[in-house]
Amino acid sequence: MKFFVDTADVDAIRELADLGMADGVTTNPSLIMKSGRDILEVTREICAIVEGPVSAEVVAPDAPAMIAEGRELARIAPNIAIKVPLTWEGLKACKALSGEGHKVNVTLCFSAAQAILAAKAGASFVSPFLGRLDDINLDGLQLIADIRAIYDNYGFGTEILAASIRSVNHITEAAKIGADVVTAPPAVIKQMAAHPLTDKGLAIFMADWEKTGQKIL
Ligand code: E4P
Repeated sequence: MKFFVDTADVDAIRELADLGMADGVTTNPSLIMKSGRDILEVTREICAIVEGPVSAEVVAPDAPAMIAEGRELARIAPNIAIKVPLTWEGLKACKALSGEGHKVNVTLCFSAAQAILAAKAGASFVSPFLGRLDDINLDGLQLIADIRAIYDNYGFGTEILAASIRSVNHITEAAKIGADVVTAPPAVIKQMAAHPLTDKGLAIFMADWEKTGQKIL
C-alpha cells in the first residue's frame, strides 16, 4: 500500500519523506489556501522533496480551461498528477490530459458509478472521499469496497486512492479492502504509531530499568 500525504505543509512532508512514509502528496485548493503559499511555488518545492506523484488541482469550470491549467501545472515537474473534479467537464479533461501522457487524479468521487467513469476516461487515480461520506452518515469504506470489486471484475488499471481520511481506522480498513493508495493528513499518519499499551509497557520497562542502576552508554 502506498502512503500519500494530504497537505501542502512542506515541513510535514519533509519529515515523513525522510522516514520513507511519503510515496506521494495530494493537495487541493483548500490545502493551498491553508499553506498561505503560491500554488506554483509550493508545488514545485513539494515535487523536489518526494519522488512519487504530487497531485495539484485545476480550478477552472470547463474542460478546455481545465486542460490549459492542467498543462501549466504539469510543467512544474515530471511527478505532477493533475487533479480534476469528477464532473462531466472534469472527465473530458481527464481523457485529454491522460491521452497526452499526464497522470490524472480524478477527485471528489462519491459513488461507484462515478469511479467507473473515471477509469473509462483513463484516470491514473480515482479519489473516493471516505470522511465526507461518513460525515453525512453514508458508508465511505463500503464505497472503497465497491470500487475495488468493480475494478477487479474488469481489470481497470486506475488506482484507488482513499481520500478524506479522518482516522487511523480509516487507513487500516482501507488497507484491508485493498485500496492501492491512502492519502492522509500528517497527524493521522503519525497517530498510527500510537497505542496505549505501548506507552504503558514502555513506562514499566523504564521504571524497572531505573531500579537496575545500569547504563548502556
Ligand atoms: C484528497 O485528495 C483531498 O485532498 C482530501 O483527502 C480531502 O479531505 P477532507 O475531506 O478532509 O478535506
